[in-house]
Amino acid sequence: MSSLEVVQLSKRFGARTAVDALSFSTRQGDIIGLLGPNGAGKTTTIRLLTTILRPSGGSFSLTGIPGEHQAAIRERIGVLPESAGYPARQTGWEYLRYSARLFGLGRVESANVTDRLLADVGLSDRAGSRISTYSRGMRQRLGIARALVNDPAVVFLDEPTLGLDPAGQREILAAVRDIAQRRGATVLLSTHTLTEVEQICTNLLILNRGKLLAAGTVSDVIATVGARRSGRLRVAPDLTPLAQATLDTVNGLKVTGDPDHPGELRLEAISSARDPWDNALRALLDARIAVLAFDTDATRLSDAFLSLTEEDQT
Ligand SMILES: Nc1ncnc2c1ncn2[C@@H]1O[C@H](COP(=O)(O)OP(=O)(O)OP(=O)(O)O)[C@@H](O)[C@H]1O
Ligand SMILES: [Mg+2]
Repeated sequence: MSSLEVVQLSKRFGARTAVDALSFSTRQGDIIGLLGPNGAGKTTTIRLLTTILRPSGGSFSLTGIPGEHQAAIRERIGVLPESAGYPARQTGWEYLRYSARLFGLGRVESANVTDRLLADVGLSDRAGSRISTYSRGMRQRLGIARALVNDPAVVFLDEPTLGLDPAGQREILAAVRDIAQRRGATVLLSTHTLTEVEQICTNLLILNRGKLLAAGTVSDVIATVGARRSGRLRVAPDLTPLAQATLDTVNGLKVTGDPDHPGELRLEAISSARDPWDNALRALLDARIAVLAFDTDATRLSDAFLSLTEEDQT
């Protein structure tokens, strides 16, 4: 069963559409990276799915529970908000135990859960210190522990590694992986850091101006976008000039030959055209030029992401 089922979800603030007909689904154990430039609609999406905001259109369900059933949804989710505040005078232990009590756990159980979660996020040795003495990374880890007190099916983390040093980031990412693997929860995390998406996410959602630009497994998204950017074509060496002339007529394609390797042509998609490969191969077929090989170049996620969000600006 899918853990999240999102259908045409939209949110408008006055004339501005912050989330525009978003559809996707997730499964247990998925770690979904929600990517997008500032203002893309990541936080708004999280606020909709955590019932802080009401959709202007569309719907979602979480482990089969319809989004309108706010109380039932809240019992099944954990959230690390974009800017979480903590009671500075409480200790980490007091804060977590209080949070567990709010979810209706008994005294003993709350204390046990608190001990266990503090250990899970590596805060046991600071359990008795006031939160005001915690570093930013420690606060983020406390926030993640807080998001887990009710053993949620879906955990939402809004930029969990923002402002952390590399060691702090690694600790958070390890905790996130652990949540997905050991608890079988779905984790949806928003971030600007592409390397962390490549490291831990199983799936990707790329948002720009409220719209979903790409979705799928991390390798699928890279492959689709990467395939658009550049590739290499091989034809019989004596057909190279004819192939080049033929491809020059295809829109959105830049073709370069390599004098050292006759028969090889380098193809590049020019940003205004989305998918020139079909047309390129068809043109060659029409001209009766046999394609001996055609490979698209592998692309890093950062290239894929940039090319998507840049294309969308035009
Ligand atoms: N309460 C609100 N009232 C009016 N507009 C809002 C509100 N909340 C968000 N917006 C607008 O919706 C759009 C999406 O904002 P959102 O905070 O979801 O983006 P984001 O992807 O989380 O960005 P960032 O990376 O900066 O955190 C922005 O244009 C923002 O100004
Ligand atoms: Mg945000």
